[in-house]
Amino acid sequence: MELSTTTLVLFILLAVSGIAQSIDIPIAKFGGVPNSDITQALTNAWREACGSATASKIVVPGGTYRMRAVDMRGPCKAPIELYVDGTIIAPPNPRDVGDEWQWVKVEYVDYFTLSGSGVFDGQGAMAWKNNDCGTNSNCARTPMNFGFNFVKNAVVRTVTSKDSKNFNVNVLGCQNFTFDGFKIAAPGNSINTDGIHMGRSKGVRILNTNISTGDDCISIGDGSVHTTIYNVRCGPGHGISVGSLGKYTTEAPVEGLVVKKVTFSNTDNGLRIKTWPSAPGTSPISNLHYEDITMINVRNPIIIDQEYCPWNQCNKQNPSKIRISNISFKNIRGTSLTKEGVNLICSSGAPCRQVKLGDIDLKFNGAPAVAVCRNVRPTVVGRAPPCVAA
Ligand SMILES: *[C@@H]1O[C@H](CO)[C@@H](O)[C@H](O)[C@H]1NC(C)=O
Ligand SMILES: *[C@@H]1O[C@H](CO)[C@@H](O)[C@H](O)[C@H]1NC(C)=O
Ligand SMILES: *[C@@H]1O[C@H](CO)[C@@H](O)[C@H](O)[C@H]1NC(C)=O
Repeated sequence: MELSTTTLVLFILLAVSGIAQSIDIPIAKFGGVPNSDITQALTNAWREACGSATASKIVVPGGTYRMRAVDMRGPCKAPIELYVDGTIIAPPNPRDVGDEWQWVKVEYVDYFTLSGSGVFDGQGAMAWKNNDCGTNSNCARTPMNFGFNFVKNAVVRTVTSKDSKNFNVNVLGCQNFTFDGFKIAAPGNSINTDGIHMGRSKGVRILNTNISTGDDCISIGDGSVHTTIYNVRCGPGHGISVGSLGKYTTEAPVEGLVVKKVTFSNTDNGLRIKTWPSAPGTSPISNLHYEDITMINVRNPIIIDQEYCPWNQCNKQNPSKIRISNISFKNIRGTSLTKEGVNLICSSGAPCRQVKLGDIDLKFNGAPAVAVCRNVRPTVVGRAPPCVAA
């Protein structure tokens, strides 16, 4: 008994001192100084951090730095924090970034933290101006600001992603990944600048985060499981979307999403679920719960769209094969820019099941907005607009 207590105390002391002993790795050690290009300095600092047997903290102090694409790859030996107070800017021309997919890449790392008051500025204006992907399927690829690929037990806090050329952040194959106090800022008319897109990931949490951008604030792709979105502000932007889904047979189900305490201001959509008609995918979407949501001048506050077909890229001859079930919308208030504040357009091939509406108070021009329902019979709890046929 005596011995095991002593051992325990020793173990805790060691653990605590182990954390305290995180070593700082200033990028200046590798020649990274303000007003220079720190691509090589950060790459070298990462190599040292990744090889370190004790936890380490790469420090980029205040100042402005230029940087081309950096690939921070694991596996590493101990936890790593990247602490950035400076502003890091990408080359304006996508061709000069050095990676056509992602500018700041973190891959195969366990226990990663990104922190500080820093700004990652993707300088996207030139890329947005030349973006013709709406009409040209062979359009040039432009890099996203951040790619987190197969990262586990990670936290991204307090930094800002600004003016990405493409999606701001892509989360792929990650587990236990938290954004807390994160910021995303791009103009409302910037093209394809989704805030955070995730797919094939489990336990992604987006907390206390403000997103203003030109496309979806958050988009939840196939294989996203146990996602939490809490205390988020979105606008301008296209809202929080699940999907689009159904294009591919290889997709995995979307299961478990809680969206709570979110404000949408002047966004195209609020809460959206979208699947493609005449498409082969069958992976279901289930257990999505939306609660305590404020809508301020939102075009489509609540929208399930199983006939999603932008730019006439498809036909609507055959219904979507995706089943949507166990979805609740509770305490959703504010103003809609259309009369149809609630749109539940489900698939005739797989009608929605267990859809619940509770305490929906959406106004269009001062009058209650209506709900348009197709292939769904929502359960109403408390106050909600009655369904009219589509
Ligand atoms: C999730 O990641 C955080 C941050 O690294 C860590 O503190 C926490 O213990 C992890 N949770 C689990 C269940 O592994
Ligand atoms: C988000 O915006 C609100 C309101 O302007 C502000 O109080 C909060 O500090 C912001 N949070 C972040 C992470 O910027
Ligand atoms: C609906 O979703 C909730 C939350 O994920 C879950 O606890 C519940 O079991 C689900 N209900 C059904 C019938 O699957």
